[in-house]
Amino acid sequence: MSEDAIQAAARALSAGRLVILPTETVYGLAADAGNPEAVAAIFEAKGRPRFNPLIAHVATAAAAERLAVFDDAARALAQAFWPGPLTIVAPARADGGVCDLARAGLDSVAVRVPGHPVARAVLAAFAGPVVAPSANRSGRPSPTTFADALEETGPSAAAALDGGPCDVGVESTVVSVLDGRIALLRPGAVTRDQIEALVGPLPADQDGAGEGHRSPGRLTLHYAPEAPVRINAQGASDGEILLGFGPGVGDPRWTLSATGDLREAATNLFRLLREADREHPVGIAVSPVPMLELGEAINDRLRRAAGFVG
Ligand code: TXA
Ligand code: MG
Repeated sequence: MSEDAIQAAARALSAGRLVILPTETVYGLAADAGNPEAVAAIFEAKGRPRFNPLIAHVATAAAAERLAVFDDAARALAQAFWPGPLTIVAPARADGGVCDLARAGLDSVAVRVPGHPVARAVLAAFAGPVVAPSANRSGRPSPTTFADALEETGPSAAAALDGGPCDVGVESTVVSVLDGRIALLRPGAVTRDQIEALVGPLPADQDGAGEGHRSPGRLTLHYAPEAPVRINAQGASDGEILLGFGPGVGDPRWTLSATGDLREAATNLFRLLREADREHPVGIAVSPVPMLELGEAINDRLRRAAGFVG
C-alpha cells in the first residue's frame, strides 16, 4: 500500500467522504466519527437503521480512553487484546468526538483498535476517531475480500484501499464493560474463554448483565444470503450446496475447512456463503461446526444467516 493512497484516504475522511478500509476482521466503510453528515452517509449507504450504533476505531488504547471511560477490567481487556479483533463498549465521554448519530443517541460508545497495518496507517494519518461498520449493505454477509467490499458499498466510497483478504473473516468480539459488569454482546476471534481467563465468568447470555448491555445491531436479521441457509446439516438435499466442515465432507470447492480448523472456517465463511449464493442454489446447507473457541462466533453468524434472531 503506497503512502500516497493512505494520505488520500485520510484526506477523504477529513473532507467528510466515505472510505472502504481493510481490517483484520472484515472490510469496513469508514467515516470521520465527529462529522454527523459523513456518519449519516454511512447509514444511507448501508441502508442501516439509525438505532444501530457504529464502532469508533482509533490508533491506540490511549486514544480510546479519550472517547470512553475505562475501568480496570476494560483496561485489562484493551491491554491483552489490542491491537486486534476486540470491541469494548463503555460509557462515552461527552467531549470524546464521536457524534450522537454514530452512537445512536446512547450514552455508551463502542471502541476498537484494529490490528491491520492499512487500517492502522489510515488511523495514524487521520489522527481522530473513525467509525467503520462492516462494508456490506445492512442484513447481508460482511465483505472479507476487496472485491466483495466494492460490490457491496463501493459506489458510496470516495476511496477504497485493497488490504487483501481478511485474516479473521468474522467481525470483532464485542464486550460491554458498564457499571462494573461485563457481557459478551457478539462472539468473535477473541473467545469467551480468553475473556473469562482475564476478567472472570461472563453471564451466559446478555440478559444476565442487565440494561445497557445490549447490542441494538443484534435485533435485526443478519448475514443473510439470498438462498435459504440450513445449519447443522448432515448432507445436501436436491439442489442445495453443502458447505462442509471436516475431512471428506462434501465437495472440496465448498469446504469451510477440510481439516476441521476453526480459524480457517471463519476466514472462509462469508466468502463461501457469497460464492454459493451466486450459483443460485435451492438452498445452502452447512455441516455442524463445534461450539468451542471460534466455533461460537461461526455458529452465531450461521444461526443469523439461517434466520434465527436473538
Ligand atoms: O470487526 C468489526 O467490528 C468490523 C470492522 C470493520 O471493524 N465492524 C463492524 O461494525 O462489525 P458493525 O457496525 O457492522 O457492528 C457493530 C456492532 C453492532 O452489532 C452494534 O449494534 C454494536 O456493535 N454496537 C455499537 N455500539 C454499541 C453500543 N454503544 N452498545 C452496544 N452495542 C453497540
Ligand atoms: Mg455489520
